[in-house]
Amino acid sequence: MNTLDRYVLFGHPVAHSRSPQIHALFARQCGQALSYDAIDVIPEQFISTARHFFASGGRGANVTFPHKEAALALPADLTQRARLAGSINTLAVMPNGDLLGDNTDGIGLVRDLVERMGLTLRDRRILLLGAGGAARGVIGPLLELRPSALLLDNRTRPRLEQVLHDFEPVAASLNVKWGAATAGPFDLIINATSASHSGDLPPMPQGAVASHTICYDMFYGREGTAFTRWAQSAGAQRAEMGLGMLVEQAAEAFRLWRGVLPDTGPVLAAISG
Ligand code: ATR
Repeated sequence: MNTLDRYVLFGHPVAHSRSPQIHALFARQCGQALSYDAIDVIPEQFISTARHFFASGGRGANVTFPHKEAALALPADLTQRARLAGSINTLAVMPNGDLLGDNTDGIGLVRDLVERMGLTLRDRRILLLGAGGAARGVIGPLLELRPSALLLDNRTRPRLEQVLHDFEPVAASLNVKWGAATAGPFDLIINATSASHSGDLPPMPQGAVASHTICYDMFYGREGTAFTRWAQSAGAQRAEMGLGMLVEQAAEAFRLWRGVLPDTGPVLAAISG
């Protein structure tokens, strides 16, 4: 019988996910005995599959595209940042047996932008593409960096309007200009859509890129993404993918599950090769 503590990733698709490798490296580095597997589950079966996993002793899960908002139905309680986000990327069984929902995407993105890439975002203009669970997860932590403006664009208008409405009070309290994107250019453009999954480019305002613009795709692919290739051809200063964010958000999930924060540098180096 498998006596290891069990963790999983729920997503659709998950075949190319690097999360199992990242958590295996964290476990080895921190001397933790656990298993971590990727489970491909369609939206219609996600809730029942996740409930079964936890009912049969699973200790924690990561949640990725397209289940981050649906996952709100699972936990008994949410961390403050998950409640603000309205989306979840981490589930953990707490000592009292209750399930807690967290969202570590925002802290993961901010650490990658600020600590690894060395960006200063205070008083900068940021464009965020997307209004799904991934976008929701990073808005609060981006606002806390006090950019001059955080502006949004999305393929469909109603979802964009909902996100603009939900985060309006936080943006106002931090004195950050907030709203639907108009014209560029921007200092930083973050692609939080899932368009890269299908090789598509999300819609963007005119003139979004100038020669100083940094572009960041939260998605990652072996040979770049449609968005990073577009950014390069549009003359952006730098185009990056979200592998660093993936490792950082995973480290925060690992800390919630195991009580120890892994050293992310060597793990990012190992999976970047
Ligand atoms: P996630 O958890 O990754 O955010 P999601 O909640 O399904 O997944 O949200 C997907 C996001 O990517 C949405 O902003 C979606 O736009 P819509 O709200 O208009 O559906 C965006 N998206 C997905 N495929 C896209 C495409 N091919 N082009 C542009 N935007 C796309």
